[in-house]
Amino acid sequence: MKILIINGPNLNMLGIREPEVYGRETYADLCRYIREKAAALGAEAEIFQSNSEGEIVTRIQQALGTADAIVINPAAYTHTSIAILDALKAVSLPAAEVHLSDVTKREEFRKVSYAGMACRHHFIGLGFEGYFRAMEALAADLQSDGK
Ligand code: DQA
Repeated sequence: MKILIINGPNLNMLGIREPEVYGRETYADLCRYIREKAAALGAEAEIFQSNSEGEIVTRIQQALGTADAIVINPAAYTHTSIAILDALKAVSLPAAEVHLSDVTKREEFRKVSYAGMACRHHFIGLGFEGYFRAMEALAADLQSDGK
């Protein structure tokens, strides 16, 4: 079972950016956490981070035939990108949305999630654990689909 993990803009700045919102753990810490939890689930996690909307769209397209499911934290593109929503719909792979912070309790503009409209699971405001919960939920879906 191969799960593609996509992280959007500025998530590579974890540990430095707004620690009062996102904590002090770094992006390398997040990647290590994701790999360990994927292994515990018997899955393989491929992690991709980009600050560019177009690169994220292209990576989602490339998931077709190469990944079984997608976990995505589109970061700021969550609230703006119809292109990422369309790419997720185009590949139609089981997908889960993750946000480290609780976007429902922040600024108004963070309350809309375009990408989330193409996701069957949503883990919001759980910090790193959201990635584990997302992989766990998708792994359970794939198992019940017999994949
Ligand atoms: C985020 C929330 C977004 O609103 C923000 O733009 C991010 C990170 C989160 O993980 O909490 O960059 O997706």
